[in-house]
Amino acid sequence: MPPAIACTGLSKSYGPRQAVQPLELEVEPGTLLGFLGPNGAGKTSVIRILTTILTPDAGAFTVAGVPHDRPAEIRRRVGVLPESAGYAEGQTGEQVLTFFARLYGQSGTQASATARELLDLVGLAERARTLVAGYSRGMRQRLGIARALVNRPEVVFLDEPTLGLDPAGQRQVLQVIGGIARQRGSTVVLSTHLLAEVEEVCDRVVILNAGRVVADGGIDEVARVAAAPRQGRVRLPADSVAAGLRVLSASPEVARIARSEARDEIVVELREGLTPAEAGPRILRALLDADLPVLAVELDRGRLSDAFLTLTADT
Ligand SMILES: Nc1ncnc2c1ncn2[C@@H]1O[C@H](COP(=O)(O)OP(=O)(O)OP(=O)(O)O)[C@@H](O)[C@H]1O
Ligand SMILES: [Mg+2]
Repeated sequence: MPPAIACTGLSKSYGPRQAVQPLELEVEPGTLLGFLGPNGAGKTSVIRILTTILTPDAGAFTVAGVPHDRPAEIRRRVGVLPESAGYAEGQTGEQVLTFFARLYGQSGTQASATARELLDLVGLAERARTLVAGYSRGMRQRLGIARALVNRPEVVFLDEPTLGLDPAGQRQVLQVIGGIARQRGSTVVLSTHLLAEVEEVCDRVVILNAGRVVADGGIDEVARVAAAPRQGRVRLPADSVAAGLRVLSASPEVARIARSEARDEIVVELREGLTPAEAGPRILRALLDADLPVLAVELDRGRLSDAFLTLTADT
């Protein structure tokens, strides 16, 4: 199976401003990719290039295995929620989706079925017959996501689908997006500033800064670059804490230990550069090898927001 997205040397300038530096990117099919970066990093420009709305100055790409010199075919295979999507205010949600499904060549019956299925998917079934003019911002964003799915796209680009939504709305939209990737098997490129939610739903993150990829990988991998120390807690029965302290202070994964207020708990700080996933099992093994009755080993996950701030500072 070809990659969902592959690009090499993709670049774009607006006058003297280079918005996208030569970009290399490959995305496996089925990935839910968090596409992050501060304002002006180039996220929208890249999305517009990959959806063939904007022509790059240089470089080559394929989307869903289709080369960039076949833009019409790419458009048939992708779905997009643009950064600022407009809606036909005088139509109902159902009419909007039916109309788009017809544009993609579906018969009247097919198009109605598609509209109903998608309204249900994004939680708008009960408002199917309400005019878009009467939709809240969250409902509009969900309609926009449904519209992006009308042609059963292999790759879906969502440019800030949670923009302007309240916390409950953000959560709802992210759940819908998680479902798109997991149930429909589509590749999703999700541009957003909600880092905590990205940590929850995305398989992989790419962080852009000033048109360049400054980080690319799994959440833990990317969070590892953050300078912030990673902490955790080890719980042991009170009479084993002293022995636990001895084992942990000799453990190469641990940079620092302290006894916490709770008498049966030891607070550990991991050595720099280690992920919790790497350190956790080793710490647990060292304790078990010493025959200690471990009650819990709990390591805080590296935070994506720390990595983000470190990587995008000073621009
Ligand atoms: N049509 C345009 N004309 C001139 N400059 C542009 C245009 N579109 C984008 N830019 C510039 O290109 C750079 C990247 O912009 P882009 O919109 O791709 O960033 P972004 O990561 O999507 O930002 P945001 O998070 O604010 O949406 C910015 O410096 C922006 O000012
Ligand atoms: Mg943008």
